[in-house]
Amino acid sequence: MIRLSASSDDVAEIEADALILGIIPGGEVTTHANLPEDIRTALTETARPLEPEAKVGATTILASPLVKAPRVVLVGLGEGNDADLRESAGAASRACGKRPGRIAVALPALTDSACQAVAEGLLLGSYRFDRYLTPKSDGPAPEPEWLIAGASDSALARAVILAEAVNGARDLVNTPPLDLYPESFAETAQTATSGLGVDVRVWNADQLEKEGFGGLIAVGSGSLRPPRLIRLEWKPEGARETVALVGKGITFDTGGISLKTNDGMATMKSDMAGAAAVLGIVCAAARLKLPIAVTGWLCLAENMPSGSAQRPSDVIRVHGGTTVEVMNTDAEGRLVLADGLDRAREEKPTVLIDIATLTGAQGLALGARTCGVMGTPSVRDAIVGAAGEAGEGMWAMPLPDHLREGLESKVADLRNVSNDRMGGMLTAGLFLREFAGDTPWAHVDIARPAFNEGGPYGATPSGGTGIAVRTMLRFLENRCGA
Ligand code: BES
Ligand code: MN
Ligand code: ZN
Repeated sequence: MIRLSASSDDVAEIEADALILGIIPGGEVTTHANLPEDIRTALTETARPLEPEAKVGATTILASPLVKAPRVVLVGLGEGNDADLRESAGAASRACGKRPGRIAVALPALTDSACQAVAEGLLLGSYRFDRYLTPKSDGPAPEPEWLIAGASDSALARAVILAEAVNGARDLVNTPPLDLYPESFAETAQTATSGLGVDVRVWNADQLEKEGFGGLIAVGSGSLRPPRLIRLEWKPEGARETVALVGKGITFDTGGISLKTNDGMATMKSDMAGAAAVLGIVCAAARLKLPIAVTGWLCLAENMPSGSAQRPSDVIRVHGGTTVEVMNTDAEGRLVLADGLDRAREEKPTVLIDIATLTGAQGLALGARTCGVMGTPSVRDAIVGAAGEAGEGMWAMPLPDHLREGLESKVADLRNVSNDRMGGMLTAGLFLREFAGDTPWAHVDIARPAFNEGGPYGATPSGGTGIAVRTMLRFLENRCGA
């Protein structure tokens, strides 16, 4: 349970386990909260020999008899814009000690959106995935209680909705594939959406087979745990348009018969991060009551090698009838997305967007913190713009026509891979474009940014990151002027 409240008390007097304040260039302590000026200058002097840094997220810890909190966390604010405040609050949230209960936060946030960014940063940065850890003898760490100076209740409420969507996606990504598989994912989606006014429909394997979802069936055929397709719908009265979001939900990607190396599959529990993001986005859109219709399509399967698995050179028929020669069973995401995109498009959404951990080539091109966005230029650029506003890394990438030739097959309408590895992220995008038809569409490749293999930084923890949730919610808000 998240505990977050606004406070207007003198922050020096708050009985808390830690107090978070900002540092600006020159090493000066800063806040817009209620803090006597003589205490602020005294704290700046106490901090001086510790050489506090003003760069985003740099933390300096000190103790001072002038404030009630036994630990003072000073955090660099960078330029102090919303994105920097979010990252700084995230870093500060992890510097509050091993078992803090109450934390007073007095960062300089003057506007509602700045307060929201601070609150998001705290809730995102302090995220932990400890479900599988045996509790220590002194009991589980207390849930933090955040007291945020000068915040409005509405900004805090919005921050909670966003952070729960992102952290929920992280939980799903971090859950081991022993426990997260298509059927259990579907149960989670049912629970997560209950009471939100979201309509849920689930296709089981028999229904998928009957209705021609050949991509999900083929990819799931090697697994003992059958595939699922989930449709989520948030449809407020009077909505003028519908955004369809399709998420890749490979609950584990071994590569199938085109088996990955052990190292290559180390992070492949994250191969459902697109579907997890879509679930979070639909839930948050409903909780925020955004005046725009959103359908979410979760394409869930486990990619395993076995006697019943699909083989390289098999020809499958995906939803809508297109035949695909599967030359590499490790290029499985595009097969399940072909089903999802085609089925989503049948309902004539105004915009179609897929979110997928699709290619290793994304990481080679853009690194671990920048997603590649391809598709109809207007949609693509609106997503990249929303990412900038939301503080996530996304970049527009092209879909060069010449690469499409690599997807020609002698025996089927398409091959699922090209013989040319160069530009693999773009080739994957070109494959998906075949299933978007005339609908304005974009593809977001979140492969590496979905899972942080390193240590935490800013508002991003190790492991699942929940990337794309904040961007897409901003995209939806921009789209409906909310
Ligand atoms: N799930 C992987 C992509 C991936 C790689 C995500 C690394 C996160 C980190 C995807 O299914 C895959 O295996 N793609 C292949 C495609 C290739 C066979 C054309 C790849 O990128 O190697
Ligand atoms: Mn794969
Ligand atoms: Zn995959």
